[in-house]
Amino acid sequence: MSTPLLNVTGLKKSFDLSQPFLNRLFSGDERKFVHAVDGVDFSIERGTTLSLVGESGCGKSTVAKLLMGLTHPSDGNMRFDGNELAGMSAGDPPDVRRRMQMIFQDPFASLNPRWRVARIIAEPMKSFGTHPDPSERRKEVDRLLEFVGLSAADGEKFPHEFSGGQRQRISIARAISTKPEFLVCDEPTSALDVSVQAQILNLMRELQRELGLTYLFITHDLAVVNYISDYIGVMYLGRLVELAPAEQIFAAPQHPYTRLLLETVPDITMAHRDMERPAGEVPNPITPPMGCHFNPRCPLATDRCRTEKPEFLPYGSSRVRCHAVQEGRADQAVLREDL
Ligand SMILES: Nc1ncnc2c1ncn2[C@@H]1O[C@H](COP(=O)(O)OP(=O)(O)O)[C@@H](O)[C@H]1O
Ligand code: SF4
Ligand SMILES: [Mg+2]
Repeated sequence: MSTPLLNVTGLKKSFDLSQPFLNRLFSGDERKFVHAVDGVDFSIERGTTLSLVGESGCGKSTVAKLLMGLTHPSDGNMRFDGNELAGMSAGDPPDVRRRMQMIFQDPFASLNPRWRVARIIAEPMKSFGTHPDPSERRKEVDRLLEFVGLSAADGEKFPHEFSGGQRQRISIARAISTKPEFLVCDEPTSALDVSVQAQILNLMRELQRELGLTYLFITHDLAVVNYISDYIGVMYLGRLVELAPAEQIFAAPQHPYTRLLLETVPDITMAHRDMERPAGEVPNPITPPMGCHFNPRCPLATDRCRTEKPEFLPYGSSRVRCHAVQEGRADQAVLREDL
């Protein structure tokens, strides 16, 4: 196996939600933390896509922000092509940052409304110094606009003159303007109509093929995941619970939570199921359940699950965090009836 382009180990991020010290002294409140990312491990091979899926609040965007240096880890390592990213910030070091770019969910909020599109796309080239000559830079902007299915003339317009799908094309042009190798895509199609989503996903796949890009793709939509992923990581309350080749997640999901997400989908290849609200409540992330975080919703939970945190262990070509799977008692037929 080749060396992965990105290797993440033991990644953690906690946010301190406590009141200031004096307020706590008078109110008697304890300090409160949310463990948004609670020990995540994954790696991504060059030219492939890993998708992170899970319900809202499970820590997907925090993983994206940690990788991009927009927030700092509490613990763990993130190695990008041999460079350790932990401890670095968004623009630092420039050559590594040029090679990693991000596409956001809301293509309107992420584009400066007062700038013409040409300036928006040229900005990363300017700040990373990839095209120092202004006329070369403009030529490159025109080429990028056409590359993502817009026209060179569109460079003169402002973001509000475009539809949501076109704005996401502009975001993509901007993201690839510095010739990055790695794109973090945080719900890039979630704000778009279903028909437009497919066009943007097609464009992203074409770009991946032509430019050899590596993707971390974040979404809560199972249909999107099925379409774009080589590997899928399922997150639950800050932890990865299953990480497996995409076809295996759909054909033989192991973790009870993965199965719960998939069970209610009659035909996964057709479905556009929203994962925001599957059966049962997601526990409060500030006081997550002891042991396995999923135990209050799990039909296979035992006393061990309520006290002992399951480890993320290899299982065939996957990794799974579940006592029942590791004890060999996660029989699929039984589970299907229960769920
Ligand atoms: N800056 C922050 N301060 C405090 N809590 C945060 C912050 N960012 C995220 N969180 C919390 O961390 C958890 C994970 O959030 P997020 O990574 O945005 O999840 P997702 O993208 O999967 O919806 C949530 O409980 C969220 O409220
Ligand atoms: S560890 Fe226990 S509670 Fe958690 S998913 Fe596995 S069987 Fe269910
Ligand atoms: Mg998010």
